[in-house]
Amino acid sequence: MVSNKNGTSLIDHRCVVGVQWGDEGKGKIVDLLSADFDAVVRYQGGANAGHTVLIGEDEFVFHLVPSGILQEGKACIIGNGAVLDLASLIDEMDGLLDRGIEHEEQIYISDRAHIVMPYHKTQDRLKEAASGKGKIGTTLRGIGPCYTDKAARKGIRTADLKDWDRFTSLVEANVESINKELAQIEGETPLDAKEIIQQYKAYRDRLLPRITNIADLLWTYHGEGKRILFEGAQGALLDLDHGTYPFVTSSSTSFLGLGPGTGFSPRQVKTVLGITKAYTTRVGGGPFPTELDNPLGEELRRAGGEFGATTGRPRRCGWIDLFALRYTIRFSDIDAMVITKLDVLDEMDSLQVCVGYEGVGTIEDHGNCFPTDLEGPIQPIYRDVPGWKGQKTTEARSLEELPQQAIDYLQYIADAVQCPIAIVSVGKERTQIIDLDPWLMPRNQVEAGRG
Ligand code: GDP
Ligand code: IMO
Ligand code: MG
Repeated sequence: MVSNKNGTSLIDHRCVVGVQWGDEGKGKIVDLLSADFDAVVRYQGGANAGHTVLIGEDEFVFHLVPSGILQEGKACIIGNGAVLDLASLIDEMDGLLDRGIEHEEQIYISDRAHIVMPYHKTQDRLKEAASGKGKIGTTLRGIGPCYTDKAARKGIRTADLKDWDRFTSLVEANVESINKELAQIEGETPLDAKEIIQQYKAYRDRLLPRITNIADLLWTYHGEGKRILFEGAQGALLDLDHGTYPFVTSSSTSFLGLGPGTGFSPRQVKTVLGITKAYTTRVGGGPFPTELDNPLGEELRRAGGEFGATTGRPRRCGWIDLFALRYTIRFSDIDAMVITKLDVLDEMDSLQVCVGYEGVGTIEDHGNCFPTDLEGPIQPIYRDVPGWKGQKTTEARSLEELPQQAIDYLQYIADAVQCPIAIVSVGKERTQIIDLDPWLMPRNQVEAGRG
């Protein structure tokens, strides 16, 4: 019996999602937590993601392979909601093998996941080039066009690799259609369907044994009482529906994407952790109210090593935006936050936190509302908070070992967004972590006896 009468799971399945614009440190946290789980599942996004895990001196960046792969024997599952660049996936798997990590048998790929085809990358590139100033600044990994084909019902799924005639005719039809578009654009050469099909034959031979019905697998694990950890990619503000549209990615990046992305029920997931940096970053175009386009922002970029794990682009940096955070915490149904990169603030003279936007509102008077359109210059409303310059957080392994100002900073965040903090990360390395037990609760919730 793994569910109670209300259907709520008795197993502590968990979900880890980003609650900013991505790159919050999900990879590190998923790697850490997966030690206590049987399976780790990626359920949306594609090779646009770059999830970094550092173990000692060894750095790994995962794009499609779930970040639990470095913990021995965990099933690492890619759900139907993800879009798969097969070449990139195989590259990643080969990279692991080159580093002596035998893992092939741990990987399971949904037979309903859509495949990112070479023409999707071409379409991504052309669309961005044609968008001029309004371009999204995508990762050029073909993500948008692949999800577009999925919604238009002309996508190619991993299941199609099992039926070669079907796969071949789908590729031929799609290539014929894009070649018509390419013929209109100067300097573009047509794609060769035969060449693509040949390439994919090799991918198929390698991956076919790993392709299976993921929903069935997850429900079976659930029935056996196994623990499942779900790993979101990107972050809630990049969510197709609830993010800063149109400057978003093309999938449901919050906890809410878990159901459609796996065929497993979000109702069975007991704990949802929202990962946020102690400040904010964004890579690509789009609104970013607390951006520090000045030496302070550069200082954050330097101290935090803020360069994209997938594209190497410098990330835009700014103060933590509690107004945005409170919004994403609610719609992503977060139980507790994980605050990462607290150590990056160690050298800051003073800190600011954003509690609202001029003309829009503040957390205090506006609660969880966040504007649908963040257009024009947005003036953040800041509060000054004391920093802890010169005191290091990197060696702390308990709350008490942190400087008092750092504890106050964390408490301020928990109070403002009305969400407890479960974990604090104080460095890149796996062991640089403060596991808060009990969680650091918002003060009013403690007073009300809910702590
Ligand atoms: P993800 O996409 O959410 O997995 O995050 P990325 O891997 O793209 O970016 C996070 C970066 O911050 C990586 O380089 C991590 O190694 C690093 N990182 C994670 N947690 C911490 C931390 O607490 N402190 C510092 N200094 N770096 C961290
Ligand atoms: P992880 O999982 C940060 C951003 C791109 C661009 C927008 C759309 O590592 O946190 P896309 O290629 O998805 O069509 O680009 O989304 N973006 C990310 N930003 N982290 C990511 O993933 C991202 N994946 C996409 O920079 O602004
Ligand atoms: Mg990343």
